[in-house]
Formats: sequence, C-alpha cells, structure tokens
Amino acid sequence: MKKTFLVIGVGFLFIGASIFSACTKEGPMGKTGPAGVDGKDGVDASTTCTECHNPATVELAATEFEFSKHSYGEAAFEESGNVGCSPCHASEAFQYVCKNNVPSTFTMGADNRWTNSYSTIATAAIGEITCVTCHSSLHTTYTSADIPALTTVAPVSMTFFGGAKEINLTQGGGISNLCVKCHQPRPFTNSNTNKNVLNYDSLKNFPTVLFYDAAQANGLNKIKPSYRTHTHYGTAGAVFAGKGGVEFGSGYTNSLHTTKATCQDCHMATQTGRAGGHTFVAKGNFTGCNTDGCHKDAPITAATTTKYWKQTRDNVKSLLDQLAAKLTKVATIDGNSVTVDILNRNKDTESNMWAALTTNSYDGYLNIYDPITNPSVQTYNASSFQYIGTPPSTWSQAQKDYNATLPKITLTNAQMGALINFQLCLRDYSLGIHNTTYTTTLLTNTLAALPSK
Ligand code: HEC
Ligand code: HEC
Ligand code: HEC
Ligand code: HEC
Ligand code: HEC
Repeated sequence: MKKTFLVIGVGFLFIGASIFSACTKEGPMGKTGPAGVDGKDGVDASTTCTECHNPATVELAATEFEFSKHSYGEAAFEESGNVGCSPCHASEAFQYVCKNNVPSTFTMGADNRWTNSYSTIATAAIGEITCVTCHSSLHTTYTSADIPALTTVAPVSMTFFGGAKEINLTQGGGISNLCVKCHQPRPFTNSNTNKNVLNYDSLKNFPTVLFYDAAQANGLNKIKPSYRTHTHYGTAGAVFAGKGGVEFGSGYTNSLHTTKATCQDCHMATQTGRAGGHTFVAKGNFTGCNTDGCHKDAPITAATTTKYWKQTRDNVKSLLDQLAAKLTKVATIDGNSVTVDILNRNKDTESNMWAALTTNSYDGYLNIYDPITNPSVQTYNASSFQYIGTPPSTWSQAQKDYNATLPKITLTNAQMGALINFQLCLRDYSLGIHNTTYTTTLLTNTLAALPSK
C-alpha cells in the first residue's frame, strides 16, 4: 500500500512542481494551472495556493493524518470492491452514498426477501480515506474558501434501524454528522427467515420469549448465533447520540456532550503528543475537554479521581463486567457442572482493541466455537458453546469431535438485547465518556432485565 502512495505522490509532485513554478511567473492572468484555476484579478495564483499549501495548514494536517487510523488502517484497502462495506471504508463509496443520499432502508425483493439498500455501486467502491473523503470542495476555487465545505453535515439515517431512526447532532453546524455517517453500528438481519432488519423492540417487549433454541421449529429462530453475530465496530456515534440501544426499562437521558460537544472538540483538539488535530485521536489529549464553557474551571486530567474521568470509566467498566457475568450458562460437560460465558474472551491486545475495557477482556464476539475465525478460542475461554450447523470442511476431525462435546446455546430475547447493548457500550470504547448517563442507564437497566442467577 505504501508503495502505491509513493508512486502517486511522485506523480503529483511532478504536476505540482510545474503548476507552482508557472504560478510564480508574471504571466497573463488566468492562463496557468489546472482547469478552473483562474487567478483572481490582481492576485497572483501562488498567493491563493499558499493559503493552504503552507507548513501550518495542509502540510501540518497531512503530517498529523499519517497518524490517523483513517490513513494507516488497512480496512479501506481490504473492503474496497465490496459495495456493502465500502460506504464507510472507501473514499469513492462514501462520496457516492452522500451525494446520492442513498437510503438505509431495507427493501423487499421479488424473492420475498429483504435487502439492505445502504450500498454503493461497483464503479464507486474503492479508495483510501484521504483529504477529499471529508473535504468535498478542495481545488474548486483554489482558495482557502474550499476548506470549510465537508462532504456531509446532513442528519444521518441509521443503518442499524434500517432507516427507522436518525441521528442529527446540530451543534457546530452539524460537523459531527460527518463522523457519525461512518461511525454508526450496522444492522442485525434475520438470517434464518426473511433477511429483514431485526425487530429490536420485540427483544425488550417480550424478554422471556426464546430468541434462539436449536429445538425450535424453523422460522422462529430469527438469527443463528455465531462467533461473528455482532453490530460491527463503529458504535461511538450511536452511543454519543443516545440511540441504538435495546432500551429496557426507562429513565434514559443524555449527557451534555450529546448536544454541546462535537466529535471534533475532543478528537481534533489542538494536537499534542500523538493525539489531536488530524490524527483524530482523543486518547491522552485533554485539551478539548478543558476549554471555555466546558471543563476549564475544574480541568480534567488522566489522574483525576473526580467523577468526570476515572470514576465514570471505572463505573462503566464495572457495569460491563457485571453484565458479562450475567451472560453465562451453567452446562454439564463430561459430567461436571461448568459455567460457560456467552461472550468471547480474548486477551490478545493485537486482535482485541477492547481487551483492557473489561476485567476478562471480552471482545464483543460470542463464545461459540469456531477455530478458524477465532483461533484463540481455547486459549482464553474455559469452554465454549457448540458451533451451530455442519462445521466447515476446513475444520480438522479433532476440531469437529471437540465441537460435538460442547453444550448448545439458547438465548432469550432479553439475553439477545443484552448482548447488543454490551457490544454497543464496549465498542464505543470511551467507557462512558461519550455519553455517561445514556451508557450507565442502558447497562443498569439491561442488568435488571436479566433474571438473577
Ligand atoms: C483549500 C486549500 C487548498 C488550496 C487553496 C490549494 N490546495 Fe492544493 N491541495 C490541498 C489539499 C488538502 C491537498 C491534498 C494534500 C495531501 O494529500 O497531502 C492538495 C494537493 C495538491 C497537489 C498534490 C500534491 C501531493 O503531494 O499529492 C497539488 C499539485 C496541489 N495541491 C496544487 C495546488 C495549487 C497549484 C494550488 C493553487 C492554484 C492549490 N493546490 C491550492 C488543498 C489546497
Ligand atoms: C468515510 C467514513 C469515515 C468518516 C467520515 C470518519 N471515519 Fe473515523 N474511521 C473510519 C474507519 C473505517 C476507521 C477504521 C479504519 C481502519 O481500521 O482501517 C476509522 C477510525 C477512526 C478512529 C480510530 C479508531 C481506532 O480503532 O483506533 C477514530 C478516533 C475516528 N475514526 C474518529 C473519527 C472522527 C472524529 C470523524 C469525524 C471528524 C471520523 N472518524 C470520520 C471511517 C470514517
Ligand atoms: C456503517 C458504516 C460501516 C459499514 C457499512 C462497514 N463498516 Fe467496517 N467499520 C466501520 C467503522 C467506523 C470502523 C472503525 C470503528 C472503530 O475502530 O472505532 C470499522 C471497522 C472495521 C474493521 C476493523 C478494522 C480495524 O481497525 O481492525 C473491519 C475488519 C471492518 N470494519 C470490516 C467491514 C466489512 C467486511 C464490512 C462489510 C461487510 C464493513 N466493515 C462495513 C464502519 C462500517
Ligand atoms: C475524516 C474526515 C477528515 C479527513 C479525512 C480530513 N479532514 Fe481536514 N478537517 C476535517 C474537519 C471535520 C475539519 C473541521 C474541524 C473543525 O472545524 O473543528 C477539518 C479541518 C481542516 C483544515 C482547517 C482547519 C485547520 O486545521 O487549520 C485543514 C487545513 C484541513 N482540514 C486539511 C486536511 C488535509 C490536508 C487532509 C488530508 C491530509 C484532511 N484535512 C483530511 C475532517 C477531515
Ligand atoms: C467529550 C469528548 C469526546 C467527544 C465529544 C467524542 N469523543 Fe470519541 N472518544 C473520547 C474518548 C475520551 C475516547 C477514549 C479514548 C481513550 O481510550 O482514552 C473516545 C474514543 C472514541 C473512539 C474509539 C477509538 C480511539 O482509538 O480513539 C472513536 C471511534 C470515537 N471516540 C469516535 C467519536 C465520534 C464519532 C464522536 C462524535 C459522534 C466522538 N467520538 C465524540 C472522547 C470524545
């Protein structure tokens, strides 16, 4: 990947050099530069170029951006080509869904099955995330006036709900909606029946009804649980906005952040260390927290024991721990009574970026035996639930035999809802900082909705 960049870079440099040198010549107005570069009367084109092309602006942002996972992450490269994945992973695809206002609804097809409409087209399903992904008007007027325009600030129709709900963070002119458009959870779809988006309300309204049981007649089981039954990774936007949970009980409110802070306030605060600016990293950077109108009077630091950092995070971690402890089942294995986690443990911090967020290092996946996609399943879990269905041919005979000894999973609606809420709050990554009151209410009410052990 890096090699590709270099080649492109050299190409641009060449073009750039010729444009820049042309600009500095005292030539006739508007003759030089790429199409559309019409020097303003009396203004040398090089002046407008340097509004951005200077060490403090584009060059600084570009340097910071190399430290952003948007840039160094591999996902854009890996998901390019896939029309369903690329709207959040590839530049062209993101621009396509924004420009065409592609809905996130599900539509019924001729085969009586639903499909998720939120996808791009094959000819726009590629591209690393780069400046133009977010800055839609670069090189339009070739002045600094091209910077403020963002690819989208419109309300975000939530794909998690098949478009039934939207997120609209209006503060700061809606700039957070840009982030939320990608940083939102993905829908659970009914894999065993009609492929429609899962009806989350039924999970909280009929908590004791069985959601999955191998013994149930076909069609009653909406989803066949597997290791990878999850709501994807980008849950931050939904938790921040206070939307996306299976809201058991009542009493939901949002923290002030939801209406007062923008994603940029914390994730693009003045750069310090390895964080801030176009690194988009909030971790370790309290500059954005401690500004006027926010926490200036009682500044937040990493060490603080006030409720706004350590206490909040310790409390949310404890709630996640408690919820995981309730999401277990006692099974008889080899004549012994064993408590089996429904959630998968993974202490490897390379493959589990959330490892430090719970005591047992859950990763939000399910503890259903799958030695291919989850090779460390037996390293970190005392036991697991049986893989459902015929194991893939890639499994060894020993793996198939082991699988057959494992207990079968059953889930109630309440447990399924609890799993979703656990995934949302774990993968939000902030341990309650994004939206303390929503996160704590969601987790506390979920705990109450599960029968005591
Ligand atoms: C609104 C700010 C802005 C203005 C004004 C602007 N540019 Fe750019 N330009 C950018 C950004 C952002 C990039 C992408 C930088 C990157 O990816 O590192 C870029 C990239 C380039 C590149 C490719 C360089 C590379 O290394 O990839 C060239 C060439 C270029 N600009 C020339 C010009 C010229 C000539 C002008 C004036 C006529 C101009 N730009 C005015 C923002 C601007
Ligand atoms: C085009 C979709 C898109 C937009 C828009 C977007 N992001 Fe991202 N973001 C991603 C993807 C995809 C990743 C993960 C990339 C990877 O792993 O290769 C990511 C990664 C991140 C990370 C690092 C997460 C980690 O795992 O360490 C942060 C922080 C982040 N984004 C914040 C933001 C903020 C703040 C905004 C708005 C200013 C924003 N993003 C806008 C798609 C997007
Ligand atoms: C609605 C937007 C969206 C869609 C659609 C989407 N993703 Fe993602 N994905 C994200 C975001 C945002 C992140 C980064 C979240 C973070 O790190 O906080 C991410 C992260 C990932 C990662 C982890 C990258 C890492 O840092 O390790 C993988 C792998 C991935 N996505 C694969 C896929 C695949 C495969 C599909 C299609 C089946 C898909 N994504 C569809 C938004 C999306
Ligand atoms: C994920 C989206 C995203 C990407 C990718 C992105 N930017 Fe930005 N950029 C923003 C947002 C949002 C703002 C406005 C921040 C604010 O108002 O707080 C911004 C502001 C800016 C500014 C003006 C503010 C400042 O810092 O002086 C410049 C210059 C800039 N970006 C350059 C770049 C360049 C160069 C790249 C590529 C190397 C880039 N951006 C990539 C989202 C992005
Ligand atoms: C009040 C400050 C604040 C705001 C506002 C905020 N975040 Fe965060 N965010 C954090 C903190 C703190 C973390 C956890 C970082 C850490 O572990 O230290 C975090 C973590 C994340 C991560 C996880 C990955 C990482 O490595 O940083 C993503 C992605 C993210 N936020 C996206 C967003 C999005 C999208 C928005 C806007 C909808 C947003 N955040 C608004 C403070 C904030």
